[in-house]
Amino acid sequence: MRILSILIPTVFLFFLLHLIATCAQIYTPPDNIALDCGSTTSDNSATAADGRKWTGDNDSKISVIEDSSGKSVSATANTPSSSVHTVPYLTARISESQFTYTFPVTAGQKFIRLHFYPAHYQGFDRSKNFFSIKVGPFTLLNNFSASLTADYMGEASIIKEFCINLEKNQSLNVTFTPSMSNSYAFINGIEIVSMPRNLYYSRLDDQGLPFIGQQAHFHIDNFTALENVHRLNIGGRSIPAMGDTGMYRNWYDDFFYLVAAGVVPSNTSIKLNYSSIPPYTAPDDVYRTARSMGSDRKENLLYNLTWRLPVDSGFRYLVRLHFCEFDPSVEAVGDRRFRIFIDNKTAEAAFDVIETAGGKGVPTYKDYLVMIGNNADKRFALELQETADAEIEKINPGGEHAYPDIVFPVARDINVKSETKLDSRDCHGVDHSDSNNVIAVPNLIHDSGSFVSSDIMSSAI
Ligand SMILES: *[C@@H]1O[C@H](CO)[C@@H](O)[C@H](O)[C@H]1NC(C)=O
Ligand SMILES: *[C@@H]1O[C@H](CO)[C@@H](O)[C@H](O)[C@H]1NC(C)=O
Ligand SMILES: *[C@@H]1O[C@H](CO)[C@@H](O)[C@H](O)[C@H]1NC(C)=O
Ligand SMILES: *[C@@H]1O[C@H](CO)[C@@H](O)[C@H](O)[C@H]1NC(C)=O
Ligand SMILES: *[C@@H]1O[C@H](CO)[C@@H](O)[C@H](O)[C@H]1NC(C)=O
Ligand SMILES: *[C@@H]1O[C@H](CO)[C@@H](O)[C@H](O)[C@H]1NC(C)=O
Ligand SMILES: *[C@@H]1O[C@H](CO)[C@@H](O)[C@H](O)[C@H]1NC(C)=O
Ligand SMILES: *[C@@H]1O[C@H](CO)[C@@H](O)[C@H](O)[C@H]1NC(C)=O
Ligand SMILES: *[C@@H]1O[C@H](CO)[C@@H](O)[C@H](O)[C@H]1NC(C)=O
Repeated sequence: MRILSILIPTVFLFFLLHLIATCAQIYTPPDNIALDCGSTTSDNSATAADGRKWTGDNDSKISVIEDSSGKSVSATANTPSSSVHTVPYLTARISESQFTYTFPVTAGQKFIRLHFYPAHYQGFDRSKNFFSIKVGPFTLLNNFSASLTADYMGEASIIKEFCINLEKNQSLNVTFTPSMSNSYAFINGIEIVSMPRNLYYSRLDDQGLPFIGQQAHFHIDNFTALENVHRLNIGGRSIPAMGDTGMYRNWYDDFFYLVAAGVVPSNTSIKLNYSSIPPYTAPDDVYRTARSMGSDRKENLLYNLTWRLPVDSGFRYLVRLHFCEFDPSVEAVGDRRFRIFIDNKTAEAAFDVIETAGGKGVPTYKDYLVMIGNNADKRFALELQETADAEIEKINPGGEHAYPDIVFPVARDINVKSETKLDSRDCHGVDHSDSNNVIAVPNLIHDSGSFVSSDIMSSAI
């Protein structure tokens, strides 16, 4: 009886502590706008299938500035698809003239996510959407066609994610401009979500990120804008926006990018120790699943664990790899080392997760910058290789050589010299030189000057 009376409060306390611990991990963005364009649902009352609350764009806090030559209209998709969610995809704001959304937001680094459902809208020909989107000095998308992009990707709807920094006392304006006289612009949903300072942007006092294979460093400063290209949960399942740490990022399965797959270990019971990086960096699941080589060391020497990622040439990319050591056979520094190649260049010659993180079960990440030149292959490879060096073999006791979790959002720098970009590669929706109708993903262009000389630009999240 006595024991019971002690136990009950203990259990209760446990739950309470557990709840507090969970909540403390989640980042609360000061700005968190989810705008359901073309909808009149007031104040956060449109609930998406995932539970996220969206607000219609007649919301009094957000204004739409129209061009004198024509007003935008609210439209409802004529062809609702079972593969898209009603909120925010069923309705759109659409116009043959320029229109601008003005958002009241605080200063700081933010995600801007643009949601498109290129359906048939009454009075608008589906094939005629060609438009640009500008935010401050950045052209995020140029002569963009949501329908061509979606058709190419085989998706009904698409999401484009960017990172920008907003200075004090600036309002955030997102301007949509049709590219040609007979084309139109449209948008289904806009998210503006704050991010923790320096999650992707460099700190003022750090030396910047190293370019792989070079001496040069690059600062992702406040005047840089980034576009997310891939964000993968390696070895795990996709993590939807609501499963993120509070920033509504989507994490996708890595399966489609794999060249050599290895095995997929996971450790759902490990208690993660966030002593190396803040807990909002990535969801726990990212660190509890991984992809690794098998336990046959001889066989492992014959291949690299490889992903091939489609990217655009002519940009700098940031590659962020997330790691957490959770394998029971790897206990100490030196138990497992491996090489990392990015785009055929050595990023790490003998990487050791425990050494880098400072312990087992300690999540960590490493950032790399890679340039993908204008004439390069439009894909780059990330390869992990068993180290074959005798020295390392000695300290590597055999057993399973699991490579921990790797996730990499890659983003494009958009500090780009506009003329160069416009000339050097097509910024059309479709690359006509390719018989398969391959989309050239539209450019990011910085209008106000040349930060980067000629042809190489790119950076990354
Ligand atoms: C938006 O439109 C809806 C439906 O017409 C209306 O109920 C709501 O009050 C409007 N909101 C604003 C801020 O005008
Ligand atoms: C970048 O902007 C953020 C907020 O907008 C500010 O706190 C930070 O000091 C800025 N960093 C630099 C290097 O100016
Ligand atoms: C921002 O605006 C407020 C009032 O609107 C003003 O007091 C403040 O000085 C401004 N800050 C900057 C950096 O311009
Ligand atoms: C955004 O638009 C408003 C209204 O047109 C304008 O006053 C403001 O200067 C614009 N902000 C920026 C950063 O361009
Ligand atoms: C998960 O990690 C913990 C702590 O390192 C370890 O005790 C356990 O054996 C691991 N489980 C699996 C399935 O690897
Ligand atoms: C692994 O990748 C590196 C760098 O691209 C390459 O030099 C090496 O030949 C690859 N090894 C195998 C077995 O494919
Ligand atoms: C990278 O290495 C692979 C073989 O490992 C080769 O096929 C490919 O052409 C190389 N790519 C570049 C850009 O050098
Ligand atoms: C977390 O890891 C750090 C090393 O990074 C270590 O000093 C600390 O003791 C660990 N905490 C727990 C609870 O294991
Ligand atoms: C936009 O792209 C389309 C399709 O590639 C092309 O026909 C058109 O000329 C482009 N418009 C501009 C203004 O670049």
